[in-house]
Amino acid sequence: MRPDPYTPPRRSGEHFLTMRGIDKRFGAVRALTSVDFRVREGEVVALVGDNGAGKSTLVKVLAGVHPHDAGTVELDGDVVHVSSPADAQELGIATVFQDLALCENLDVVANIWLGRELLEQGRLDEVAMEERTWVLLRELAAKIPSVRVPVSTLSGGQRQTVAIARSLIGDPRIVILDEPTAALGVAQTAEVLNLIERLRDRGHGVVLVSHNLTDVLAVADRIVVLRLGRNNGEFDAEEATSELLIAAITGTLDPSRPLPTPDPPRDPAPVEPSAPVIPLSGARRRRGVE
Ligand SMILES: Nc1ncnc2c1ncn2[C@@H]1O[C@H](COP(=O)(O)OP(=O)(O)O)[C@@H](O)[C@H]1O
Ligand SMILES: [Mg+2]
Repeated sequence: MRPDPYTPPRRSGEHFLTMRGIDKRFGAVRALTSVDFRVREGEVVALVGDNGAGKSTLVKVLAGVHPHDAGTVELDGDVVHVSSPADAQELGIATVFQDLALCENLDVVANIWLGRELLEQGRLDEVAMEERTWVLLRELAAKIPSVRVPVSTLSGGQRQTVAIARSLIGDPRIVILDEPTAALGVAQTAEVLNLIERLRDRGHGVVLVSHNLTDVLAVADRIVVLRLGRNNGEFDAEEATSELLIAAITGTLDPSRPLPTPDPPRDPAPVEPSAPVIPLSGARRRRGVE
């Protein structure tokens, strides 16, 4: 069987997007200060941080929504200009914003092809659009019973799926998802995390913006922490734990210190013998031993 033209080839993972020294101000607010960020095709990079850390601003710089004040964006080592959403699309950077921007009254097919409808002799080619929608949804292992129902009848997870499927029209290299599981229940979250893995399997680079560390630890290959608009740590998925991430997010972890190291011996502090202090990790270790 001939492969569907909308099924992209597996990518090699050699291509990557690099942001260096990104600054962004909103008037007196320094939303981003000298931020570095990189994503490779075929990997899931999570971008985490507290409210106001600058995650959405960084994503919007990449999506061409906000111009940055300083720094560079490079694709495969060449400096590129992402001055508008159209530029981002041209460069293969697709973004699914938190509000999804779906048209509630239109069906799944219409939403996925909105603005990029397939035409046949000047008329909408509904058959081709529907066929390709199914190819895409099957490839994403998406659980959507019908593509001819209005989006308003779908669950939160299914809507997220439609928004992600729409972002794949045009075969982007990088797909950015801003808080894709924020409004979802447990089962729908699992569905979306599964979808993120399918995106990685297809060879897209995925940027997952999330404040849910369980989701992040479940699916990310690499985790980048922002704090107060600056880089504050980067972890491979294997070395990351929620304790380390929380420390980086809240600023109790010094990013210049090598990770993870045991605490250096301290001068013995006066301890009340009747009130022993058991560190969390000690409690956890004990549970493991028992
Ligand atoms: N359009 C804007 N105008 C003014 N300030 C903004 C704007 N967008 C974001 N900010 C500010 O920039 C900082 C970073 O915000 P944001 O990127 O939304 O953080 P996050 O997504 O990590 O919660 C915050 O202090 C926020 O108030
Ligand atoms: Mg945000």
